[in-house]
Amino acid sequence: MPLQFASRLDNVETSAIRELFKLLGKPGIISFAGGFPDSAMFDVAGIQEAANKALTEEPGGALQYGATEGYNPLREQLAAFMKTKGVQDITPEGLIVTTGSQQALDLLGKTMISPGDKVIVEAPTFLATIQCFRLYGAELITAPIDADGVKTDELEKLIAQHKPKFVYLIPTFGNPSGALLSLERRKKVLELAVKYQTLIVEDDPYGDLYFDPTSPPPRSILSLSKDFPGSRDYIAHCGSMSKVLSPGLRVGWMIAPPELLAKATMCKQFSDAHTSTFAQATAAQYLRAGRMPATLANVRKVYGERARVMGESLKRDLGDAIEFTQPQGGLFFWARLTGAGGKIKDAGEFAKRAIEQGVAFVPGAPFYAKDRDLSTLRLSFATADVGKIEEGVGMLGKAL
Ligand SMILES: Cc1ncc(COP(=O)(O)O)c(C=O)c1O
Repeated sequence: MPLQFASRLDNVETSAIRELFKLLGKPGIISFAGGFPDSAMFDVAGIQEAANKALTEEPGGALQYGATEGYNPLREQLAAFMKTKGVQDITPEGLIVTTGSQQALDLLGKTMISPGDKVIVEAPTFLATIQCFRLYGAELITAPIDADGVKTDELEKLIAQHKPKFVYLIPTFGNPSGALLSLERRKKVLELAVKYQTLIVEDDPYGDLYFDPTSPPPRSILSLSKDFPGSRDYIAHCGSMSKVLSPGLRVGWMIAPPELLAKATMCKQFSDAHTSTFAQATAAQYLRAGRMPATLANVRKVYGERARVMGESLKRDLGDAIEFTQPQGGLFFWARLTGAGGKIKDAGEFAKRAIEQGVAFVPGAPFYAKDRDLSTLRLSFATADVGKIEEGVGMLGKAL
C-alpha cells in the first residue's frame, strides 16, 4: 500500500523553481536564478575569528544544549543591532532567535493559522511563505503592489472584507518584487493594524541591503510603530543574518507581542529545541567584534554596482521588450515582458530559451498565490560579477 501522507500536504505543490534549478547544473551557465547572497563575499576571516572565540571563550554555551528562546549573548547583540535601526524600546527578552527567518514564518504559521483561516499576502510574494502558510491550511488573499510596495487602499478593502488572521508583508526590497514600501504607506499600514486590530507580519531580510549609503530606506514598520499608539501589539517582525552575513549560519530572529513570542517559543521547542548554539555563539561574537558595519558597507557597494550594471544592460539589450523599476536595494530585479513588437511575452517560455543560450532566471508566476502574471520574471544580480551580468543579459537579449 502506498504511504498515506497527512492531508495538509494536499494544499502544497513542490516548487516550480526547484524544477528549474535542476537545469542549472549545466556547466558554464550564468545564473540570475538563485535567491542567495554571493559566497565570494562572505567575511570568512571574521566568521572564523568569531567561531574560534566562541569555542575558546564560551565552549559550554557554544556546544551545549541551550534555551529555546535563544542564546542570551546573541539576544543582547541582536537587541543592540535593532536599536541601531531605530527600534529603541527593544530588550533581549523582546525577541527570540530562530533558525533562519524561515523558521519564524513557520512558527507564525503554526501559532496563528487554523485550516481555512485567511491570510493576506502581497502579489507577488516569497514563494516559501506561500507554501508554508498553505501547509497550515491558510486561504491566501492577494493584495496588489506597485514599485512603492503594497497598495494600502486596496489592502484596507481586503482587510475589511476578509478579516484575515494576519497580513504578511516584505516592505523593504521585497522578494521577488524588489519593491520598497513608501513611508506614507508604512504609516497607513500601522493605522490599519490599529483600526482593524490585525496582526501585521513584517518580514525584513533585505532592509540593510540598500545601495546608496546617503539614502537609506524608510524605517521599518516595527520602528515606526512607536509613533502609532497601540500598534506595537499588532506587529511581528522577522529579521535574518542570511543575506548580509551568511545563510548557512541559519540565524534569524522574531520580535512580536509577548504572548505570541511565548506560543512561538513553545512550538519551537517541539520543532528544533533551539537554534544551533554554535551558530548563535559565533554570530554573537561576530556582532560583538563590531564587524557588521564594514560588512554591510561592502555588500551594499558590491550589490549596488551589480544592480546598476544589470539595469543598464537590460535597457541596452532588451529595450522595450521588458519593463522594470530599478531596485534601490535587495538582491532582485522584478520585470515584465511587454510583448512589444511581437516579442516573447511568456516568461516560462523565455526561461527555457534563455537556458539554451546559457543563462537562467526564475519566471515570476510561482510567486503569485493566485492570479499569476505569466509575463513576469525575477532576476538576481547577487551572485554574478559585473562581467558575467553583462554577458548573461546579452544572452537574454538573444533569447527574446
Ligand atoms: C522574503 C524572505 N523571507 C525569508 C527568507 C528566509 O531566509 P532565512 O531563513 O535564510 O533567514 C528569505 C530567503 O530567501 C526571503 O527572501
